[in-house]
Amino acid sequence: MTAYDFKVRKDNIGTCEIAPATELDDLTPQAGEIIVKIDRFALTANNVTYAAIGDMFSYWDYFPAADGWGRVPVWGFADVVTSNCDGISEGERLYGYFPMSSYLVMTPIKITDHGFQDGTEHRLKLHAVYNGYSRCAADPVYSKANEDYEMLLRPLFMTSFLIDDYFADNDFFGGNSVILSSASSKTALGTAFLLKRNRSDSCKVIGLTSPGNKGFVTGLGVYDEVVVYDDISEMDNTSPAVYIDFAGSKEVRSAIHERFGDQLKFSSMIGASHWDQQGMSKAMPGPKPILFFAPDQIKKRNKDWGPQGVMQRFGASWKAFLEPLNDWISVSHTQGGDAIKSAYLETLAGKVKPSQGLVLSP
Ligand SMILES: NC(=O)c1ccc[n+]([C@@H]2O[C@H](COP(=O)([O-])OP(=O)(O)OC[C@H]3O[C@@H](n4cnc5c(N)ncnc54)[C@H](OP(=O)(O)O)[C@@H]3O)[C@@H](O)[C@H]2O)c1
Repeated sequence: MTAYDFKVRKDNIGTCEIAPATELDDLTPQAGEIIVKIDRFALTANNVTYAAIGDMFSYWDYFPAADGWGRVPVWGFADVVTSNCDGISEGERLYGYFPMSSYLVMTPIKITDHGFQDGTEHRLKLHAVYNGYSRCAADPVYSKANEDYEMLLRPLFMTSFLIDDYFADNDFFGGNSVILSSASSKTALGTAFLLKRNRSDSCKVIGLTSPGNKGFVTGLGVYDEVVVYDDISEMDNTSPAVYIDFAGSKEVRSAIHERFGDQLKFSSMIGASHWDQQGMSKAMPGPKPILFFAPDQIKKRNKDWGPQGVMQRFGASWKAFLEPLNDWISVSHTQGGDAIKSAYLETLAGKVKPSQGLVLSP
């Protein structure tokens, strides 16, 4: 099979298959189009969340498939193999949002030296953040040597950066400890890294995790305290706290609200790494959980600091975060449809060690 798609049933995300590429008859682009070959992408719980909440947040709409199947988006690199679009050359390397497929047909619009938007018709109504592609040759932070971490962590760390900023911007809503669920996840550990580095005078950072990941989380040195989910009922609840929820588990959220009650000053929903335990308890003490929407904070900071100012601050944080990464995460590379399918199923089942970073090639 030369060109293929990795497809997932939208109504049962545990059912998946490798199938011949539907979108691509040959490698001849229409006027205005380019065809890119997807080279490498990263896979984490974040991608499973795209599938788990795909209907609610339109994640299935970026790379459609027919008959109830969907293509899960991933962050990665691709090369332009054929171009019928002025301004984009064959051989260019791109970074952005791709399907787990061999190829993608795109229609670049709003082309600048640094990047473009995919203006393929079905994507025009979708979010610009996910429609944007950067042209590696003109990207000042791109380096071939850092491609693995770029794919694996940069989109997640941008969220970590915005969460750290949002909570500090709001004086931690009166809390003096910050509790993060799925503390072993890359997005949570990036957030804890920033909180520890930037806010250790203002807050204590507490990580919640499963027993099997406690050793990893403790070893990171970015959490002041690490608690396993079953011990939430014994946590110190004598001072005000805020909750940053990456797990999305109804049970864990309820346990935190029950334990902290009025001492819980803010409850924020970021992710659903425990995707099969999602839901909302009807009656829970404490504040109503609020969905954290990263684009709102970036919009605010673009206004306050200007886009350059945001990127400067982000760049400095990213550079600091890159330093300990080699000690925390080792990246594995695998290739082919079978490898993609088993990596997806392992990620879905929560079987990938937090110290592992998966990079895959179609
Ligand atoms: N809102 C946003 O803009 C945004 C942006 C980035 C990420 N996120 C969300 O943050 C969450 C973490 O993403 P990530 O990519 O950083 O994750 P990751 O590094 O792949 O996280 C792996 C960890 O998630 C937990 N986990 C994963 N699968 C599980 C399963 N099937 N059952 C139980 N636990 C499971 C485990 O942590 P524990 O044992 O510690 O629970 C595991 O160590 C995702 O839900 C993602 O969507 C949201």
